[in-house]
Amino acid sequence: MLKYDVLIVGAGGGGLMAALEASKAKDVKVGVITKVYPTRSHTGAAQGGINAALANVDPSDSPEVHAFDTVKGSDYLGDQDAIEFMCYEAPKRIYELEHLGVPFSRLPDGRIAQRPFGGAGFPRTCYAADKTGHVMLHTLYEQCLKNDVEFLNEWYVHELIVDNNELKGVIAIDIRNGEIHAIQTKAVIFATGGYARVYWVRNSNAIGSTGDGIALSYRAGIPLKDMEFMQFHPTGLRSTGILVTEGARGEGGYLINNQGERFMERYAPEKMELAPRDLVARAIETEILEGRGWGEGMYAYVHLDLRHLGAEKIKQRLPQIRMLAIDFEGVDPIEEPIPVRPTAHYSMGGIHVTDYKTSLSTVDGVYAIGECACVSVHGANRLGGNSLLDIVVFGKPAGAAAVEYAKNKPEDKTFNLKAEEERAKKEIEALLKKESKETIGSIRTQMAQTMWDKVGIFREEKPMQEALEKIKELKERYNNNLAPGDSGKLFNTALINYLELGNLLDIAEVIATTAILRKESRGAHARRDYPKRDDENFLKHSLTYYTPEGPKVEYIDVRITKWQPQERKY
Ligand code: FUM
Repeated sequence: MLKYDVLIVGAGGGGLMAALEASKAKDVKVGVITKVYPTRSHTGAAQGGINAALANVDPSDSPEVHAFDTVKGSDYLGDQDAIEFMCYEAPKRIYELEHLGVPFSRLPDGRIAQRPFGGAGFPRTCYAADKTGHVMLHTLYEQCLKNDVEFLNEWYVHELIVDNNELKGVIAIDIRNGEIHAIQTKAVIFATGGYARVYWVRNSNAIGSTGDGIALSYRAGIPLKDMEFMQFHPTGLRSTGILVTEGARGEGGYLINNQGERFMERYAPEKMELAPRDLVARAIETEILEGRGWGEGMYAYVHLDLRHLGAEKIKQRLPQIRMLAIDFEGVDPIEEPIPVRPTAHYSMGGIHVTDYKTSLSTVDGVYAIGECACVSVHGANRLGGNSLLDIVVFGKPAGAAAVEYAKNKPEDKTFNLKAEEERAKKEIEALLKKESKETIGSIRTQMAQTMWDKVGIFREEKPMQEALEKIKELKERYNNNLAPGDSGKLFNTALINYLELGNLLDIAEVIATTAILRKESRGAHARRDYPKRDDENFLKHSLTYYTPEGPKVEYIDVRITKWQPQERKY
């Protein structure tokens, strides 16, 4: 049986940062298990940058202002002690990344360049052109290889085995040959990314952002926090939803409607295009719904105009955006505006982390970092540039904490993990033999379209209730009618797609349930029937527990240190 002391699930920036830290320990066996090759992880899609108050562009910036901007951006749902920790750690982590080899863009004097981003008081976002996540991912992977971190690439973690509130191991599938393995490990760090793939039609996420770590933690009894909060990035390419970085607006891009107006003046007169994402996304949708966009139906759009920035700046600072606009929309931003519309982008909710200093969940030995975790530093709306920060700030101490836990934990010689492996093998074999009466694609499309239409940017009781009913129906059809439809062993991607869909359906049910219960508007959760924020009743995190009858929701307090909730104006 494979054995580790610390097993990190997911090889994006968070997983690799944790692995790098854990690999410094002597006599501790650390492994990273990932369903895709590490450099294909979704961190590679992060474009515009990573926030840290280095004050390189404006000396007035400070971690304190960064923390306040983040609290306000979160619509006061973020836990303020964790936010302060993140913002004060940020400069240290940026210099660490620089020393590891991340090729940040530079100011003329050689210091790290910083650009303005939404909801931020100062230009604070450090960047590498518009490929920041890509270069971070590659640098961290190189460093892990240098430190001899062991990788299980193209393995899918299917189950978390917990006994008596203590981790015993995981069940995993080696996708390359279909073999099922129990892996004994004292600690697991989930770094599996978000659940934005619950949504269609525009989506900025990798196809594999299916919330796997979140769903299997939930089924193992770990509560999920604030799952109703899904971020829609204001600017996805019209047809595909591929991200057009906020950095494009940070560099000075305008949003324009079919009347030729910079319409953000009506919604956020001070910050304009650099208001927080929830606000800008709703503004774009409102312009389109009120007939001031171009095009029809779900592919209607507004313009992101970069032409006034000039060819040189576009080529130097936004080369990937130019390439994506040419390849996917047939538009060269040097010559023409880019057609954009909001796209499902980031999961504010996730695995309930009980201690931001260690990223421990409610189960001993199970940790969660990055987008699959809810610490909570993003509250109801994440600020752009804070997610790359989150993964490095919390990845590092989680790696250290998991090592410490594993060192002090004697090997469990009594729990019968082999029996769990045998059970899992039988279940998967039965699944592969089962006949499928429907297709995975059909159920996945119905789920994603339902969630987009009814639990999307604007929400209301009746459509959300309809969505919940539909998701329950799809879950029944998944359980009764669906099977992978391929009994092969080698690279059986149908099996993985089938399991991923089960994860997405569980998550969709939790999102709809918690969104219905939150009868207020806060951050990305915008209810037409409850348009105001209601601090008296909902200045609280939702916690959702799995039960065989369906999700059970409770609430816990938000941790407020120094910033009392105020009305959010930009
Ligand atoms: O707009 C962007 O470049 C995305 C950054 C982020 O989500 O933090």
